[in-house]
Amino acid sequence: MKILLTGGAGYIGSHTIIELYKAGHSVVVVDNLVNSNQEALRRVSKIIGEEFPFEKADIRDRESLDRLFGQYHIDAVINFAGLKAVGESVSKPLEYYENNMNGVFVLLDVMRRHGCKNIIFSSSATVYGDPAIIPITEECPKGQCTNPYGWTKSMLEQVLIDVQKADREWNVVLLRYFNPIGAHESGLIGENPNGIPNNLMPYITQTAVGLRKELGIFGNDYDTHDGTGVRDYIHVVDLARGHVAALKVFENRNEISSQRDEEKGLYIYNLGTGHGYSVLDVVKAFEKVNGVKIPYVIKERRPGDIATCYCNPSKAKEELGWEAQYGIEEMCRDSWRWQSQNPNGYESL
Ligand code: NAD
Ligand code: WQD
Repeated sequence: MKILLTGGAGYIGSHTIIELYKAGHSVVVVDNLVNSNQEALRRVSKIIGEEFPFEKADIRDRESLDRLFGQYHIDAVINFAGLKAVGESVSKPLEYYENNMNGVFVLLDVMRRHGCKNIIFSSSATVYGDPAIIPITEECPKGQCTNPYGWTKSMLEQVLIDVQKADREWNVVLLRYFNPIGAHESGLIGENPNGIPNNLMPYITQTAVGLRKELGIFGNDYDTHDGTGVRDYIHVVDLARGHVAALKVFENRNEISSQRDEEKGLYIYNLGTGHGYSVLDVVKAFEKVNGVKIPYVIKERRPGDIATCYCNPSKAKEELGWEAQYGIEEMCRDSWRWQSQNPNGYESL
């Protein structure tokens, strides 16, 4: 299939291009590079040994999208494009709602005008809020998000559900990612945050490489085995492969599940490993695998954080035949390989 990847120059998108090519698909990438660097795409080309089309454009720019759909026969879209910094979304709610929501509105409209009604949407475990059930299944009710970023995911899920309900020709796949970390084994591509990292693993790797003095651990008085927050970390390459597996829905949706005919076309999956690791577990695993010490201090809880979040990933296994292959050691090893080989990310060359 030919897949349009919006936001394909970013962390998850760049890894997904590689897995799509390995599975025999091809891509067109559109990204405005607001949170990424074209160098990532050059390195992806090096890894796959092939060039692919890239358009530097904003997905809110209807004319650019229209031109792309006219130029290429696109079978499906994977929408990664979006702003994702939780803290920033609290201080710039309008910018987040405008970019993330409007981007998808324009994209969906252009898609239907061109008769392309297959979309995979990057959603997030954040839509569960403080989850009612652990491990979280897809039946777990969605919850109260604690920030505008999370609400954009929750609301866009609803938009996509409504679009699919109104026109059953649409195939909509909502992938709820848990906590992606790790990097491609080549060490050529990885997560490249702007400024001070918000997320745990880039903070750990930047501390290890000497860019940060010490890791601040946000609270050690949660109701978890060691008091620090527990999450379901998933290797970004496993996550990328989850997208390839989800394309099955577009090839033959009748094979996917035992849904009634009138329900076909909407698919929701958790993409995680099903294992929960605390902040201290991750720090210890990182130190052990890589032989690097991570100095840390315990800080106040971070507002909006929850104690525990990990999923039951069995639906994706049963219906898509996908399950995560990598464990926490590989995630720590590959995150460090990327950071140590590229101390300043894509700016180092
Ligand atoms: P990323 O920031 O690395 O990638 C997103 C890409 O979208 C960037 O390259 C950015 O330049 C681009 N972009 C943003 N707005 C755009 C617009 N209007 N037009 C065109 N391009 C635009 O983030 P990522 O970690 O690769 O995440 C990909 C998607 O997955 C995002 O939607 C994110 O919200 C979602 N997600 C990420 C995580 C995570 O922890 N990384 C977890 C759950 C969901
Ligand atoms: C993990 C754990 C922190 C940084 C976020 C988004 C979520 C999704 C994934 C996009 C928590 C602790 C962190 C640090 C720390 N993104 N921590 N010190 O909060 O589970 O999820 O990213 O959709 O929507 O909210 O991930 O990596 O920020 O935190 O102690 O410097 O590490 O408190 O327990 P989180 P995270």
